[in-house]
Amino acid sequence: MRLTLSHVGLSFDGAPGEGTRALEDVSLEVSGGVVGLMGQTGSGKTTLLEVMAGMLRPDEGSVLVDGRDACGAEGSRALAGAVGLVFQIPERQFFEPTVERELVFGLRSRGLGAAEARERAGEALALMGLELDELAARSPLALSGGQQRRVAIASVLALEPSLLLLDEPTAGLDPRSRSACVDAVRAAARSGATVVMASHDANVLAAVADRVVVLESGRVTLDDPARELLGDAPLMRSHGLEPACASRAASALRRAGVAVEGAPLTADELAAAILAARGRS
Ligand SMILES: Nc1ncnc2c1ncn2[C@@H]1O[C@H](COP(=O)(O)OP(=O)(O)OP(=O)(O)O)[C@@H](O)[C@H]1O
Ligand SMILES: [Mg+2]
Repeated sequence: MRLTLSHVGLSFDGAPGEGTRALEDVSLEVSGGVVGLMGQTGSGKTTLLEVMAGMLRPDEGSVLVDGRDACGAEGSRALAGAVGLVFQIPERQFFEPTVERELVFGLRSRGLGAAEARERAGEALALMGLELDELAARSPLALSGGQQRRVAIASVLALEPSLLLLDEPTAGLDPRSRSACVDAVRAAARSGATVVMASHDANVLAAVADRVVVLESGRVTLDDPARELLGDAPLMRSHGLEPACASRAASALRRAGVAVEGAPLTADELAAAILAARGRS
């Protein structure tokens, strides 16, 4: 699925003259792969994802879905059938009384039979390390924060959306669940989905993103290949972003005189770069 935003602007209402300008002149096209969305708190990431999901209508500019206006009848139908959004706050996503009903709702409304929907729901939940049999009858709102997030991710993954939008999906997850989420996002992209994922965590984006877009005060200020942007610690810092741990460690090693080459983004890449530097000395 190809989503094309041109000069999108959006304000939230407030007292006259006091509305919030959340997006300003945003132009970007996403079509396949994983796009990471970074930016400080309040920079517009959630608003942009909600525009992409068709939940918010911009007051300026246009959004096209495979070339059709997302606000028109055909375009909005195409978008609604293709999009899956994992909300930043899982409670906002839940509306069914049990985990099982939450998970099967979307599948049933897409025409799957009860048994098939339950099986797909169970598989998606297992990808996130949870057992449907154990949680089926529980209220989603009575789960722990991390469990809620994993159920929220699973309920969207189960639909196999061709436009997968995730709003800080790894926030508050333990390391194993975080890598399960990263693996699931990678698998979705490999199977052809277009993925946009907002995250403050450069380590997570280093593991999953092909491209990174940075928002500041509602404007796109950077839009670059992930390796280029995430590997440039000074650039990231100058935009108020925290570089990945491996990038920070590489900078510290260079300051201490170790000739670390390239721009390692993960622990494995950093280890390889240190070993190569040792081999040269
Ligand atoms: N429903 C709303 N009503 C009024 N203003 C809003 C609303 N939602 C967001 N805003 C404002 O729009 C701007 C962008 O908010 P948004 O939630 O998109 O930021 P964000 O980048 O997702 O931040 P965070 O990292 O904290 O999740 C902020 O100034 C915010 O206060
Ligand atoms: Mg947000």
